[in-house]
Amino acid sequence: MANLILHNQDCIEVMTSIEENSVDLILTDPPYNLGNFMRDRDTNLKKMRDNFFGSAGWDDLSFEEWEESMDRFFEESVRVLKHGGSMIVFMAIIKVESIIKIAERYGLYYKTTGIWHKLNPMPRNMNLHFVNSTETWIYFTYKKKTGTFNNDGKMIHDFIETAVASNGERRFGKHPTQKPVKLMEFFVNVLSNENDTILDPFMGSGSTGVAAIKNDRNFIGVELNEKYYNIARQRIEEVWE
Ligand SMILES: C[S@@+](CC[C@H](N)C(=O)[O-])C[C@H]1O[C@@H](n2cnc3c(N)ncnc32)[C@H](O)[C@@H]1O
Repeated sequence: MANLILHNQDCIEVMTSIEENSVDLILTDPPYNLGNFMRDRDTNLKKMRDNFFGSAGWDDLSFEEWEESMDRFFEESVRVLKHGGSMIVFMAIIKVESIIKIAERYGLYYKTTGIWHKLNPMPRNMNLHFVNSTETWIYFTYKKKTGTFNNDGKMIHDFIETAVASNGERRFGKHPTQKPVKLMEFFVNVLSNENDTILDPFMGSGSTGVAAIKNDRNFIGVELNEKYYNIARQRIEEVWE
């Protein structure tokens, strides 16, 4: 049976206590810190994000504070990652360059910036502008230029399409940026092997954990917000039992 460790705590505090050189894959979706950006633009997303992200952490910081937080996160990430381990970080497209700069400071090897395309995005303001239907993911390896890559000899594009998380995946409660399990399972299966250890320091509603445990990987998950932590715990324990 896979090992499962969940924390309702600040991820930096938890990561400092994880053994060095012990994690095979960090698969995570940190706050994109778009709160102030939305507010300054006075879009009708502002109210929604105020409701959703009020207590989420790291979403209303100045750019410098956010950069410093991400810097700490990468510093701890390379300490816990195995040599040859991999990392996927979801991010808003406008922040990709900042993330790559910080990651390279800590010796991560940049591989790819890929796209997740949502097949059924919210049709918000569809008659006014292009509907927001994509997010990026950035792929790094640590200390080696190639990590685990289970492609079975087939070409894999840097473009993934899935539906957004279904209502069934939200039955224990909703998270505003919940990733579908199918998307996380894709990375789990390509970038790790059975019995490997996967860490998600910003696990939100726990989709990475569900994907990891379903596929016989060990999982360490951290979430600061108690409500989201409880959703994650219920979802992950359901597949673990
Ligand atoms: C973009 S969401 C992750 C969503 C997740 N991928 C899912 O499928 O539900 C980022 C999460 O990080 C959490 N968070 C923010 N700062 C944190 C910190 N310092 N430590 C741990 N979690 C944190 C937020 O509460 C939020 O739930």
